Amino acid sequence: MKERILVTGGTGYIGSHTVVELQNSGYEVVIVDNLSNSRADVVDHIEQITGIRPAFEHVDCLDYEGMDAVFKKYPGIKGVIHFAASKAVGESVQKPLLYYRNNLVSLINLLELMPKHNVGGIIFSSSCTVYGQPDVLPVTEAAPIKKAESPYGNTKQVNEEIVRDTVASGAPINAILLRYFNPIGAHPSALIGELPNGVPQNLVPYVTQTAMGIREKLSVFGDDYDTPDGSCIRDYIYVVDLAKAHVIAMKRILEGKQKDKVEVFNLGTGRGLSVLELVHSFEEATGVKLNYQIVGRRAGDIVKVWADPTYANQELGWKADTPILDVLRSAWNWQVHLRETGVQ
Ligand code: NAD
Ligand code: WQD
Repeated sequence: MKERILVTGGTGYIGSHTVVELQNSGYEVVIVDNLSNSRADVVDHIEQITGIRPAFEHVDCLDYEGMDAVFKKYPGIKGVIHFAASKAVGESVQKPLLYYRNNLVSLINLLELMPKHNVGGIIFSSSCTVYGQPDVLPVTEAAPIKKAESPYGNTKQVNEEIVRDTVASGAPINAILLRYFNPIGAHPSALIGELPNGVPQNLVPYVTQTAMGIREKLSVFGDDYDTPDGSCIRDYIYVVDLAKAHVIAMKRILEGKQKDKVEVFNLGTGRGLSVLELVHSFEEATGVKLNYQIVGRRAGDIVKVWADPTYANQELGWKADTPILDVLRSAWNWQVHLRETGVQ
């Protein structure tokens, strides 16, 4: 019997790649998504890639009764991977209550429903945003949590605490909090990838849309930072590498291998790349020349952050090692696929 895993936000960017890896590793997947930031045809594409159609439930995680019904309809769910959330940092400043409600209540519903349905494990999508601008680089899991710069960032911090407090209260739940650095790229099939809503706020979708001619030019936000070339530095991690870490983490929970009932892992490559280095790597990977200009700094940007992924490397036996040129080529192939299929 295959073990059954519930994936919330499973038609989204990271969720869809994780569903593929779960199915490839022999798990049975039930996706719950309200399609607020993804499309239903992602399920078809997952089936095309893996040959297996995951169960899909068009349900909102805010709907307690609806979620209860999902657990009843699919008995024996062993674990939950909780991706569903609103994630646009700028929008969260404009609509804080929407972000607090969606991101907090979705998690609370799950944590209430899991014991009721004998589901003992949860993986929560957290973010390197909890570290703010770290004092020491690379940043380890022991680094202090900094006051959040946005309601979105705050939802990640509060949700981490909600998980910890719930487990500490004696709830029969084991949890892994995964702090992602900057996920980029798309599945090698180019059948699934990131689908930004409107004008992309994140660097790589903006780069690929500019290369495609959808955007006139990329604005590089600042070249006067205290970094070697003056542009900001991030740890860009391939989404397929990231997805694989979830499969390993879920196996760890299900096999009872955790050292603690709540564990935290940084998921990054351990390498920092500047915005300008990324732009030039994209040009090298694809042969496409990018129209870009240096403009002023973007308010609230972290200057530099990259992971120390040693703990995840050692404990999970996992490493994000896909070469950046391959990753950027995958992002470009996805953009080409979107053009060919008339999506963008
Ligand atoms: P995404 O928007 O592509 O995927 C999230 C999915 O959740 C979407 O399909 C959306 O329709 C769904 N969703 C949102 N609210 C829902 C609700 N109430 N009920 C049901 N479905 C709902 O985002 P992503 O990039 O795949 O991010 C996944 C998770 O990882 C999020 O929690 C995000 O905050 C976190 N994260 C993302 C990044 C990143 O840069 N992409 C970095 C760190 C952490
Ligand atoms: C990367 C770099 C920009 C766009 C955001 C969230 C964070 C996390 C990941 C979820 C920065 C520069 C960007 C552009 C640019 N998400 N840039 N021109 O800022 O690390 O983080 O996504 O948890 O919470 O804040 O990612 O992709 O927006 O930017 O020069 O048009 O690219 O200034 O240095 P960021 P990003």
